Amino acid sequence: RDYRIAIVGATGAVGVEMLRVLERRNFPVASLRLLASPRSSGKTLTFRGKDVVVEPLQPSAFAGIDIALFSAGGSISKEYAPVAVESGAVVIDNSSAFRQHENVPLVVPEVNGADVAHHKGIIANPNCTTAITLMALYPLHKKFRVKRIFASSYQAVSGAGARALEELRLQVKAVANDLPIEKEIFPHQIAFNVIPQVDSFLDTGYTKEEMKMQNEGRRIMHLPTFKASVTCVRVPVYRAHSVAVSAEFERPVTLHEAREAINAFPGIELRDDTASRDYPMPLDYAGKDDCAVGRLRLDCALENGISFWVCGDQLLKGAALNAVQIAELL
Ligand code: A2P
Repeated sequence: RDYRIAIVGATGAVGVEMLRVLERRNFPVASLRLLASPRSSGKTLTFRGKDVVVEPLQPSAFAGIDIALFSAGGSISKEYAPVAVESGAVVIDNSSAFRQHENVPLVVPEVNGADVAHHKGIIANPNCTTAITLMALYPLHKKFRVKRIFASSYQAVSGAGARALEELRLQVKAVANDLPIEKEIFPHQIAFNVIPQVDSFLDTGYTKEEMKMQNEGRRIMHLPTFKASVTCVRVPVYRAHSVAVSAEFERPVTLHEAREAINAFPGIELRDDTASRDYPMPLDYAGKDDCAVGRLRLDCALENGISFWVCGDQLLKGAALNAVQIAELL
């Protein structure tokens, strides 16, 4: 059978990718409804060669919808996901609104795809940095049992939405032309800079984004003892996040087994040949479905530790692709 699909936030950085991923993966779409704010009413986006008109989001928009993909921010999800479920749709939500709700599975299909079966109408898509990190960490965990990680992220601006991408472009132009820079989305200049803040601060000094790795990692890996100390950093990259990870395991580790485990895992490539300076970089993984890991080494400061570098397109594996993969499981 074919499915009646709605995309909430269809005009956004992730929403547009959802459209492209549904197309590219030949998802069985019977009909498609594109929803956004009233600002976008009347805009059109193309799907399979046809123009589809963007409609304003309102409660009646979910009538007859089978699957609703949400990516318009947490407050929209909180307000409208229950409405969509009430109308009979299954919601796949890209926001953080429901990720810690007991009855809402939080799913990376390659890791815990079976959890989809327990849904009560809403399935949550994980944080982008967490999803990309787990693509490399989970195969190592299965082999060696992870205890804790220390990590720093290098997060692309498109993770903050379409307007953030434009902000970087305009700032780069302004700097090159000696003009004053304007900022709106980021708290500081992002062009030719790095900002050690993604999301808002908690009382502990960590940001919300940083704690997602531990909180979401525990649920996705079914590992309530997992610990993660993370520093999330915004970098002037358009697209694809990178994460430097040092992981400590329960069992003794070998690089040979680590490489084997990664090679056997779907959705992640091993790009690790230091002799030819081969390692993944965000420029090479922008627009790619697969994530990639490199710089694999025995950690010199941890017992049973492995350090690595992982890259992935946060709009794809970190958002739209993962959401459509969840829809495929449904
Ligand atoms: P719009 O383009 O009409 O503002 P991004 O993450 O790239 O910033 O995109 C956010 C997405 O969420 C866009 O599609 C945006 O639509 C949508 N959105 C933002 N606010 C609302 C709202 N109040 N109602 C419906 N959609 C919204």
